[in-house]
Amino acid sequence: MPRTEHWFEPARFGLFVHWGPWAQAGWEASWPLVGGVVGLPLGQDIPADTYHANAETWQPNPAAPEEWIAAAAAAGMRYAVLTTRHHDGFALWPSSYGDYGVARTAPGVDIVGEFVAACRRHGLKIGLYYSLPDWHHPAYPPFTDAMRPYVFGQYPAPTAEGLAEYQAYLRGQITELLTDYGTIETIWFDGAWERSPEMWDVDGLEQLIRQLQPDILINNRLPNHGDFDTPEQFVPPEPPPGPWETCLTMNKSWGFNAIDDHYKSPATLIHTLCEVAGKGGNLLLNIGPDGDGHIPQPQADRLAHFQRWMERNGEAIIGSSAGLKPWQFHGPTTLKGQMLYCHLLMQPVAPVSVRGVPVHHLQQVRILGHSEALPYEIRVPVMDELMDIDGMGEVMIDVPEAYRDPVATVLVLEFDCDPARFEPVAPDMENLA
Ligand code: GLC
Repeated sequence: MPRTEHWFEPARFGLFVHWGPWAQAGWEASWPLVGGVVGLPLGQDIPADTYHANAETWQPNPAAPEEWIAAAAAAGMRYAVLTTRHHDGFALWPSSYGDYGVARTAPGVDIVGEFVAACRRHGLKIGLYYSLPDWHHPAYPPFTDAMRPYVFGQYPAPTAEGLAEYQAYLRGQITELLTDYGTIETIWFDGAWERSPEMWDVDGLEQLIRQLQPDILINNRLPNHGDFDTPEQFVPPEPPPGPWETCLTMNKSWGFNAIDDHYKSPATLIHTLCEVAGKGGNLLLNIGPDGDGHIPQPQADRLAHFQRWMERNGEAIIGSSAGLKPWQFHGPTTLKGQMLYCHLLMQPVAPVSVRGVPVHHLQQVRILGHSEALPYEIRVPVMDELMDIDGMGEVMIDVPEAYRDPVATVLVLEFDCDPARFEPVAPDMENLA
């Protein structure tokens, strides 16, 4: 059984947390240090000294992870991923490698430890994000103002000695993260575009990781390795071939960016979860807590919308697999055994249709959150009816207005067989009278 089937694919919905010293200043995560990047249009441009000086005065609140993870659990999420060290190089745990992190600036504080403990308390699987680049490390080498603007493919190479030192640093930090905190379910790399796979020593890292945590999942940003694909800020039109996870911001920034109020609506975000699940993927939805570690109000509001929606409809998401073909229903669908969930993302103006399903095996139609069975009609080809064929047809359901969810109504069709694998039974034409 592929590693991802144990918990990752059934989980479907997770929390991404981007937290670091940038939050205290209200800047986007790391990118302001190098003057910004396309794709993060609201990122600032901050001189390197100013950027790093901010980290010296940041006292991260150890109670913050409990707030995030309690909110994630309430919203129906099943796992969480924390930026343990982003591109700017600041470590959220007391690492003995390098001098940039809480070990020096906030002795006694271990945000990774608090995060791991909070996840375990709330039953969430644990993911640790770790940036391969470190724009502060002396051997990487560090990013300086003279290197602006940041150009893809142009980051200066380390010396041969520097490279060996940097590789040892990566191995050291990864070993700490995967040794000191018990079982970690996934390690989430990022930033591989800056160096060749050989310079990261991806094979050596993979070996080290699997030796430390045999059951861990590695995302595909460790080049040539990885258990799942990570489309960013995007829902693929066609699902990727293997397991995958869309990572998505609620606004246009990963970190707590004080000037970014470009939020997606709660309905847009919930619809994205339905779309992703319908294609057999996961949604890793991001929050950027503020400098004190609190979830900014617009983000907390959106998690509360998920909570309301998931309490009623979570059964159509968690543990589901990809649904029917797009022509079978005007909207995403998900499957769980003999249950077919149809996600209505638009308000119907007429009865809705589900096509190409074994209509004679339909037991019941309901709306999630309501126990009454709904009336429905079926349409089958006239000749099938005449010949009494146990075949495929169309189900037409009138969705009462009073039962509709304001964001996304989920219809559940319960069959006495797996509706996606049913084979029609052909009539015996040999023995016609
Ligand atoms: C990008 C960005 C980074 C962010 C990540 C999340 O790679 O560089 O800031 O953490 O995406 O997927």
